[in-house]
Amino acid sequence: MLNQTVFKLMLGALLAFAYLFNQGWSSKCAADIPTVKQTQVGFKKPPIFLVEVQNNCPMCPVIDVHVKCGNFSQDHVNPNLFKVLGHNDCVVNGGLPLAPLQKISFNYSHRKFVMSPSIWYFQCE
Ligand SMILES: *[C@@H]1O[C@H](CO)[C@@H](O)[C@H](O)[C@H]1NC(C)=O
Ligand SMILES: *[C@@H]1O[C@H](CO)[C@@H](O)[C@H](O)[C@H]1NC(C)=O
Repeated sequence: MLNQTVFKLMLGALLAFAYLFNQGWSSKCAADIPTVKQTQVGFKKPPIFLVEVQNNCPMCPVIDVHVKCGNFSQDHVNPNLFKVLGHNDCVVNGGLPLAPLQKISFNYSHRKFVMSPSIWYFQCE
């Protein structure tokens, strides 16, 4: 009887701990959303932009990173790096994981396309 109570308490504490631990991991990443940075590196016409998509979470890989990419055309980049799925929807690295702090970079030569991250999932376990 006493043993069972102790067991239940311990199980409860363990579950609470596991829950907090898990939340802790995800919230650590939540402040580190993936970024899409563009730097102009060519100044002729058309200009050249360097795009850097980075997983800013130092703990966990991120998968299935989608970017709002407007009318970006597949002609500008290797689809393994950055695949145009449709208007305003591009996927980075074929949706495969970016390791903690990993960066995917490419250049395109065109008038600037506005880009921002839209979807991503951290893999914290
Ligand atoms: C994107 O392409 C569509 C259809 O070709 C066009 O209507 C729209 O103006 C374009 N948007 C930009 C920002 O160039
Ligand atoms: C992009 O272009 C710049 C300037 O030409 C070059 O230094 C850089 O290595 C290029 N980066 C990639 C990822 O192609």
